[in-house]
Amino acid sequence: MLTPKSTLITRQEIQSRVHEMAKEISRAHRDDDLMVISVLKGAVIFASDLVRHLTMPLSMDFVAVESYGQSTESSGIVKITRDTEADFTGRHVLLVEDIVDTGLTLRYLLQHLSGKKPASLEVAVLLDKASRRQVQVPVTYRGFEIPDAFVVGYGLDYAGRYRNLPDIMVVAEED
Ligand code: PRP
Repeated sequence: MLTPKSTLITRQEIQSRVHEMAKEISRAHRDDDLMVISVLKGAVIFASDLVRHLTMPLSMDFVAVESYGQSTESSGIVKITRDTEADFTGRHVLLVEDIVDTGLTLRYLLQHLSGKKPASLEVAVLLDKASRRQVQVPVTYRGFEIPDAFVVGYGLDYAGRYRNLPDIMVVAEED
């Protein structure tokens, strides 16, 4: 049975980094009407904190994806189970993800969203497991690069649990 064992990133470190990322995004999009799209479910907590530090006018929407294949690893074959119905014409879109691992989910989502012809399309990711990348994806704003460990908390789950933990923790076998 895997349970959260050690803290990788504390809640204070997360809050400080999220604030910094928001400042960077606010500077880059000072005069834009931003559309923030976050990916259910893991990105919801990050997106909720991020938008509260953004200073431009914005709207929010959500997409939900389901990944087929192995249960613990992304297969890259992604089905959108909830799409955004927003009109992207002339909108600057920020796609918000909690974690990028192989990059397959993000690649699929970027292809899908760019088909809606936004004025611009950028990506904000809190956690980057860069060593696991299978396909290159353009991450515009990155919170932390992390090692290849199974992490939970701050939106990330193990079997649907632990999304509510305020710190990001590594899971390990129970003693
Ligand atoms: C996570 C994350 C990304 C994806 C990244 O979602 O939110 O969508 O995995 O993996 P990849 O780079 O290998 O494609 P998850 O499948 O855990 O769903 P959840 O957000 O509902 O927890």
